[in-house]
Amino acid sequence: IPNKVTNIACIGAGYVGGPTMAVIAQKCPHIKVTVVDINPERIADWNDTDLSKLPVYEPGLDQVVAEARDRNLFFSTDVESAIREAQMIFISVNTPTKTYGVGKGMAADLKYVELCARQIAEVATEDKIVVEKSTLPVRTAQAIRTILDSSTDAMPGVSPRFSVLSNPEFLAEGTAVKDLHNPDRVLIGGEEDEDGQRAMEALVEVYANWVPRERILTTRIWSSELSKLTANAFLAQRISSINALSALCEKTGADVDEVAHAIGTDTRIGPKFLKASVGFGGSCFQKDILNLVYLCRHFNLPEVADYWEQVVKLNDYQKHRFTKQIIDTLFNTVSGKKIAFLGWAFKKDTNDTRESAAIYVADELLQDHAEIHVYDPKVPAVRIYADLEYLQAHRRPQFVIATPTIRGMQSDAPATLSSQEIRQLVHVHKTPYAATEKAHAIAVLTEWNEFRTYDWQKIYDAMRKPAFVFDGRNILDREELKKIGFEIKGIGKG
Ligand code: UDX
Ligand code: UDX
Ligand code: ADP
Repeated sequence: IPNKVTNIACIGAGYVGGPTMAVIAQKCPHIKVTVVDINPERIADWNDTDLSKLPVYEPGLDQVVAEARDRNLFFSTDVESAIREAQMIFISVNTPTKTYGVGKGMAADLKYVELCARQIAEVATEDKIVVEKSTLPVRTAQAIRTILDSSTDAMPGVSPRFSVLSNPEFLAEGTAVKDLHNPDRVLIGGEEDEDGQRAMEALVEVYANWVPRERILTTRIWSSELSKLTANAFLAQRISSINALSALCEKTGADVDEVAHAIGTDTRIGPKFLKASVGFGGSCFQKDILNLVYLCRHFNLPEVADYWEQVVKLNDYQKHRFTKQIIDTLFNTVSGKKIAFLGWAFKKDTNDTRESAAIYVADELLQDHAEIHVYDPKVPAVRIYADLEYLQAHRRPQFVIATPTIRGMQSDAPATLSSQEIRQLVHVHKTPYAATEKAHAIAVLTEWNEFRTYDWQKIYDAMRKPAFVFDGRNILDREELKKIGFEIKGIGKG
């Protein structure tokens, strides 16, 4: 097993693999980094000379790619050559929640990871370090190890050795480049044998090119895998905790932002990640918690499983609550009414929409026959339609069960909308002014900075009256909007 590397491959050119490898290449000019993907369009976009076409929008990423690409950073569809040449291979493919079979709706779908391991095993002729970068359930490294080992048994004569590392990525989207340049910590888990130690050393060397050594933590492989799930569960729990309190604030007349500020000054609690919202989204939080819940059930720890599951249920509740407030306020029906959505991405500064609260809020409003007009600075119309269509086919069972717990909400299972219905009722606009014209209400779903800077008087003048604003992110200036004449509702603003 090599303890120094000069050639790295990464399988998967997505939101994690792309930016992470770009930064490794930028910071380690002596290492050749090749990012491969089975999706030729994605690779073509990563190679596009027009840097605004990169498949992942992240502030600052274009400069990093411009600096390293074709110097020591390469994007390719030739998975086999990349595997063959590299001493270290990152697996950074998607691991969505299973939508079928055992563990449906809960467990992580590891089929893409498994395929990668099999392909590495087939192609490798020399020793390799295999790094799991995707978020994975605990003990996935063991599964990868088993696949790698069994294939070497099958090839007598050539028997390359493999060492598996867990190196979870903690970057947040929208700040990926900043987080990669200056991480709170880098976590590397490895096997306890001599090969494992050498492999860890090799990966520490890579990060040490720009990360101070004391911030590079090495642990046992299971601890590393579990730390990733735990970090995301804790972060999501903070949001569900403040969101739970936002409901109480609305009933009692307290202001959730004041409460968050007051508790955040306690150094044991800390000020970050306490922003009440319409609900968390993103590809990680819900998936990782459901994963953790599944794992706990598997190991017969039902109390622990229920504890964490509540974080996701509360998040579902928050999205429902927001929608219900819109419907209630608009005199108990939104049928035929025009609701403008500001924002579709799951957070600002990204074009990613996976699990965005906007999708669920839109779906529920559509169930009530609303007309939805969306403006998002980075999300194209095709993505918005694809998100709504995907949801029709993949509703989580819990989501349906959770619904009747809010009194007055639809008690029937939601209807499945056809693509045609979706396209009739949902319109995507190129400017916020077009989206909000003649609207009965505006819902803010993403906290894009630019939303604060609009000419709100102009928006008000073109809307139907009373002009309602439902600020699902508490970002707009309430006093200013009230002065103009808006009826404004926020999250946790009693
Ligand atoms: C998260 C973790 O932060 C990151 O460490 C991990 O590697 C991947 O998952 P990400 O999903 O990209 O990152 O974004 P994050 O900033 O964590 O936001 C997740 C969701 O929570 C967003 O929808 C965001 O709007 C919401 N959020 C976040 C809140 O509603 N309130 C907050 O205070 C913080
Ligand atoms: C608590 C609050 O900290 C304080 O701000 C409030 O004014 C009163 O309630 P207290 O109960 O005196 O203070 O002690 P604290 O240090 O919070 O510990 C409470 C319990 O939690 C103890 O039994 C302690 O052993 C336990 N604890 C604390 C843990 O089990 N793990 C921890 O990490 C911290
Ligand atoms: P993440 O947010 O985890 O980066 P993405 O879905 O953005 O997830 O990216 C994962 C990428 O992995 C996709 O571009 C997908 O095409 C790619 N991928 C999945 N399986 C394989 C495979 N077996 N070989 C190469 N690329 C793969």
